[in-house]
Amino acid sequence: MRIAMIGTGYVGLVSGACFSEFGVETFCVDKNEEKIAQLNEGRIPIFEPGLADLVQKNRAAGRLFFTTDLKAAVKNADAVFIAVGTPSRRGDGHADLSYVFAAAEEIAHALSGYTVVVTKSTVPVGTGRRVAEIIRRVRPDADFDVASNPEFLREGSAIGDFMRPDRVVIGCESDSAATIMRALYRPLYLIETPIVMTTLETAELAKYAANSFLAMKITFINEVANFCERVGADVHDVARAIGLDGRIGSKFLHPGPGFGGSCFPKDTLAFVRSGADAGVPQRLIETVIELNDRRKEEMAGRIIDACGGSVEGKTVAILGLTFKPNTDDMRDSPSLSVVPALQRAGAQIRAYDPEGMKEAATILTEVEYCKDAYDAIDGADCVAILTEWNEFRALNLQRVRSLLNRPVMVDLRNIYKPGDMAAAGFDYFSIGRPNVRPAQQAAPRPVLIAEGN
Ligand code: NAD
Ligand code: UGA
Repeated sequence: MRIAMIGTGYVGLVSGACFSEFGVETFCVDKNEEKIAQLNEGRIPIFEPGLADLVQKNRAAGRLFFTTDLKAAVKNADAVFIAVGTPSRRGDGHADLSYVFAAAEEIAHALSGYTVVVTKSTVPVGTGRRVAEIIRRVRPDADFDVASNPEFLREGSAIGDFMRPDRVVIGCESDSAATIMRALYRPLYLIETPIVMTTLETAELAKYAANSFLAMKITFINEVANFCERVGADVHDVARAIGLDGRIGSKFLHPGPGFGGSCFPKDTLAFVRSGADAGVPQRLIETVIELNDRRKEEMAGRIIDACGGSVEGKTVAILGLTFKPNTDDMRDSPSLSVVPALQRAGAQIRAYDPEGMKEAATILTEVEYCKDAYDAIDGADCVAILTEWNEFRALNLQRVRSLLNRPVMVDLRNIYKPGDMAAAGFDYFSIGRPNVRPAQQAAPRPVLIAEGN
């Protein structure tokens, strides 16, 4: 089997490397010459655990190639995957499909022999059929089918997610296309991965429905966390209590500063916009977007409150800038709301992130980027944890205390325990859990909710 992967970004590079690991001859194509040159020199342009080894192994085995020559890669391919970006369209929040359609046109010119053209990018319902129309218009003679094969991997655990997915979704309407898609995913059949074979429209919609549901789950627990704070309850215990119900499930119930990343924010928006276009407004997800945007804005306020109501002239140490750990991706990260809001309130920012600082420095200016967590904390009036990188989970608390001007920590990822932090002498603020003051060591009196309210 031979495939071409058009777009060698977070998804294209991981998917291409994983297909080559399955034994498929894979040509990863990108317009970005620098990216391809780096890959051909054995350097990986993104941070994704395990990816460098996988790429190196499959290049050495002669199964994985990187090129800017789309035409050569597509020629003789059994399947061509479109894995280009579908960002929010400026102004209206619809998915910007211009990269997908441009790729479809280029692919059309290059097709030779029967080929399945597969959309792996996250695209609204109807896109697969439009891709088919473009190809038919450009190359009426081409022998092809279109398929939809949305990707469900997460950054930071992308290889495991691709190699051992909960399911694979394939939308296609011809036996020839289904046969090729099944053959590509054969190693997953062998480990009994459920494969959902369906129509183009269903596959396209399933991807948006999955991301919207997960975003809704996170927003739900964030709302519950607010409730917990008001009444002295513990959101982790609530999450555990409800998550043990198999109908609810325990995953994606971790409260935080609001979801970010390159996918949930843009995909929830596109889901709402395409629903409205289809005459089926998605009010639940409209509310999720509104609540999440507001939450990200409110996070700076929590840090300001922890600093006694003002950060004017104060220094805040920020640990973690990426939207989640184990990635260098800064897209729609909560830090992009928090840091500027603190700066507007008069704070100086010292920041550290293990992988995100290079990208962060192009977006967040007037920030002092530091060499490690302790360097960032040195001389600060407060430390705020924005991303739960492992290296922040076991900080030397005595050292942190001695470096801070005041022992104030705002933990927006709940990686420490309130009791432990109080015992270590910190004024510690987290999400959805009763705070324990250093001297007091006991939960505050809960607000009583009158019966019948
Ligand atoms: P990305 O921006 O990291 O990569 C896209 C790449 O496509 C870029 O390198 C760009 O140069 C290249 N490109 C654009 N047009 C091209 C063309 N005509 N020919 C060759 N290369 C071209 O994007 P990404 O994060 O990999 O996302 C890609 C798609 O996958 C999106 O639709 C996204 O929603 C979806 N997705 C992403 C993730 C994720 O974790 N990032 C997970 C699942 C699905
Ligand atoms: C998400 C989905 O999980 C993937 O299945 C999907 O393929 C991908 O989007 C996509 O379509 O691109 P990703 O954005 O990489 O993956 O990361 P997640 O682990 O889902 O986290 C997204 C955001 O939600 C992060 O900001 C994270 O901190 C936040 N989150 C996640 C929480 O606040 N609480 C949780 O319990 C889980």
